[in-house]
Amino acid sequence: MKKLLSVIMAAVLCMCLMTACGNAGQEAAAEPAEAETTEAANTTEPAKEEAEDAEPAEEENAAEEAGESEALADGVLNVGTNAEFPPFEYVDDNGEPDGFDIALIKAIGEKLGVEVQVENMEFDALVAAIGKKIDVAIAGMTVTEERQQTVDFSNPYYMAVQYVILPEGSEIAAAEDLKGKAIGVQLGTTGDFIAEDIDDAEVSQYNKALDAVNDLVNGRLDCVIVDKNPALVFESRFEGQVTAVDGAQFGFETEEYAISIPKGDTALADKINGALQEMMEDGTFDALVAEYIEGGE
Ligand code: ARG
Repeated sequence: MKKLLSVIMAAVLCMCLMTACGNAGQEAAAEPAEAETTEAANTTEPAKEEAEDAEPAEEENAAEEAGESEALADGVLNVGTNAEFPPFEYVDDNGEPDGFDIALIKAIGEKLGVEVQVENMEFDALVAAIGKKIDVAIAGMTVTEERQQTVDFSNPYYMAVQYVILPEGSEIAAAEDLKGKAIGVQLGTTGDFIAEDIDDAEVSQYNKALDAVNDLVNGRLDCVIVDKNPALVFESRFEGQVTAVDGAQFGFETEEYAISIPKGDTALADKINGALQEMMEDGTFDALVAEYIEGGE
């Protein structure tokens, strides 16, 4: 009986010890386990972020490999313009940008299977916004070496030249006559660059060429230098008050309009050039010229 009791006691003691040990062991083990969990939670978060970040990067790489443009990846082509340049771009009766360039880029967007969204901005802000606020710009923009430092251009789609708008009865007729004159231009345009090179010229830069023409009519300027087609539109708007003269008479060189695109996005350039080419071959381009440029605004 005594023996039995001691066996039971030993067993109870043993069980107690085991439980105690077990608990202690569990507790001791629990701490690092918890710590591990927290650590794991901490590490999973950045890992998750990385995974989220990795997605567009992977898409980009895939897009590049497939010869696709990042600008088109979201299915929307964001287009910058300056709708102060009829007949290429102007604001229509509904307050929306319209004109030859707008119709052209919308037709290109259709061919590329993307939605075209047009943003009306200052002309002078367009080049810097490409690849940031906008994907491309179409704005009767002349290909210049200076702009090519920042952006690439599509193939040219239109030939142009600067014109000189004069008040009725002006004596200005040749390059020599422009020296020392009060000349109005649209800020940051090729007309602006030409005017700044004219000896002693007093150049006034406007955000809208139309405002310059208004000042010409009001007698504040001697002439306005602006691209041919807008000059002809302004001439007809101010009929009898101004004349638009071909800049060739002043030695101005011909210019070429093209769509400006992010530097190095050759995939986009190829697609836009392909669409332009198709439109030139299938008559769509000429139809737009007839509708917007030859048929007037
Ligand atoms: N062709 C000129 C240039 O590139 C004038 C363009 C102005 N365009 C406009 N949408 N306001 O500088």
